[in-house]
Amino acid sequence: MVNERVGVNQPSVDGEKKAGQQQTWKPEVYDKEMAFVSAFGAPLIDLLQVKPGETVIDWGCGSGDLASAIAEKGAHVAGIDFSASMIDSARAKYPTLKFEVADGQRFVAPEPVDAIFSNAALHWMTDAAGVAASMAASLKPGGRLVVEFGGHGNIQAVTDALREAFDAIGVSQPYQSPWYFPTIGEYGMVLQQAGFEVNSAILFDRPTKQANGDNGLRGWLATFADGILSVLPAEEADAVVRWAEERLRPALYSNGEWNVDYRRLRVTATRK
Ligand code: BEZ
Repeated sequence: MVNERVGVNQPSVDGEKKAGQQQTWKPEVYDKEMAFVSAFGAPLIDLLQVKPGETVIDWGCGSGDLASAIAEKGAHVAGIDFSASMIDSARAKYPTLKFEVADGQRFVAPEPVDAIFSNAALHWMTDAAGVAASMAASLKPGGRLVVEFGGHGNIQAVTDALREAFDAIGVSQPYQSPWYFPTIGEYGMVLQQAGFEVNSAILFDRPTKQANGDNGLRGWLATFADGILSVLPAEEADAVVRWAEERLRPALYSNGEWNVDYRRLRVTATRK
């Protein structure tokens, strides 16, 4: 079995939850409504330049689609994710691959691997130094890192609108962002301090079309802002969503579809 060669250690999930970890993931909704997440990951796999037989970890693998695509190129792949429901789904979809529940801010692979890959996951891990140290400790010297996630300015219009909605409506809880969206300079420094040499870094706008027409923003918020909205009473959460829709419609809605203002940070690096 090709994928038995990459081991993962015991989950290092502890009892204390951070803001992003309030987030509940529903794999069936994620796979159906948010299929763009994996679809946009395909060019990143090309950057990884997988060599048959090498070992790779997908750091924040979600329901496993990209881990599977990497395995199809001949690598021995393991996937880690903080969400137990996502890992259950990944195991059910790809039973020959190895998936474990683990906190990417602390996880260390029992055997260092040749490459680490991560798509649309690192912005959920706000302890960036912890992530970088964990990834460095999990890679062989000379090992490759290929990551893409939300960079500085990512979903700026959406987060501004949510923050304003909390103030305008006077909701009962303070607004707390669960996300980390660094600049190239900030993230380059984090990686260098953990023992990486940064080979390339780009920050680019990637407006991202949502399914479900007029309900697209509502669906996006239900999936991805669950950690922000679920702490509110239902009527307050509903008012925030309606307020945000009204506020964002002129900028993000046209021709019957919502385009969320994604901005990606794509980095390749080598462990020294
Ligand atoms: C992102 O992929 O950039 C993203 C997705 C959900 C919430 C925040 C950011």
